[in-house]
Amino acid sequence: MTKPLLEVENLTKKFTLSKSLFGKKEELVAVDQVSFSLDKGKTLGIVGESGSGKSTLARCIIGLYQDIEGKIIFDGQDLTDLSKKELRQVKTRMQMVFQDPYSSLNPRFTAGNIILESLRVGSKKSQREKVEKVKETMERCGLSSKYYSRYPHEFSGGQRQRISIARALVTEPDLLILDEPTSALDVSIQAQIIDLLKDLQKELGLTYLFISHDLAVVANLCHEVAVMDQGKIVEKGSRDQIFIRPQQVYTKKLLQAIPIDHPAQRRPDSMGTE
Ligand SMILES: Nc1ncnc2c1ncn2[C@@H]1O[C@H](COP(=O)(O)OP(=O)(O)OP(=O)(O)O)[C@@H](O)[C@H]1O
Ligand SMILES: [Mg+2]
Repeated sequence: MTKPLLEVENLTKKFTLSKSLFGKKEELVAVDQVSFSLDKGKTLGIVGESGSGKSTLARCIIGLYQDIEGKIIFDGQDLTDLSKKELRQVKTRMQMVFQDPYSSLNPRFTAGNIILESLRVGSKKSQREKVEKVKETMERCGLSSKYYSRYPHEFSGGQRQRISIARALVTEPDLLILDEPTSALDVSIQAQIIDLLKDLQKELGLTYLFISHDLAVVANLCHEVAVMDQGKIVEKGSRDQIFIRPQQVYTKKLLQAIPIDHPAQRRPDSMGTE
């Protein structure tokens, strides 16, 4: 058996909230003893109600919080053991794509420069090679490299999300963490982005951690699914296990909330992932 690309063990993240008039502090456990592993080339979906801790989990993995408990092991390396320099290097191999393609792109930078910025840390390429790499990545993400010098406001929502994906891909990462990458888009554009993600996974062997409250999209894209409730993973399994034979009441309730006729209720063997 191959070793997983990402292993998360008992990950916990607490926030301290200042409470009420008396200034008493309260602790919120946003991610509570979460463990899972993710094999190379696969997609793990994280689903759960708003506030269940999905984005906090993603932010912990990508290293946006210092004060976490538990372990994050990426390609056999425990990230909590690495020096800052080693960590910077490893982090170029995991990238994040955010929900909102409008606020996540700097409006003062051209599309090309936004993507180029990702290559600033850790790349040994010359400037010319970097620009070539950016253009090639744009094309791979379905954006003509003629748009290199256009600004974000000159693109549609779907195109902007392609810029975000290109920005993440240009460092040639192994893992993409996608936090609601399609929820700000129209349904038809969503489908195009999902197709792009599938193609990229097939071509480049990418591994995805895919966060979404849209179960239809999750059923379409993910090989495995973890269900979060109040910071904990309450159920985890293959896509079929979760969608056809859910065990937990919470999961069943989430599934019932999908409108009838939704693609997630089609039999999974008629869906796109192998
Ligand atoms: N910086 C923060 N300070 C304090 N509490 C926070 C912070 N960030 C998140 N939280 C809290 O942690 C919990 C989990 O939030 P998180 O954003 O991870 O949820 P989510 O599952 O991503 O929700 P959504 O589906 O709405 O994006 C929530 O109760 C939230 O209020
Ligand atoms: Mg979130």
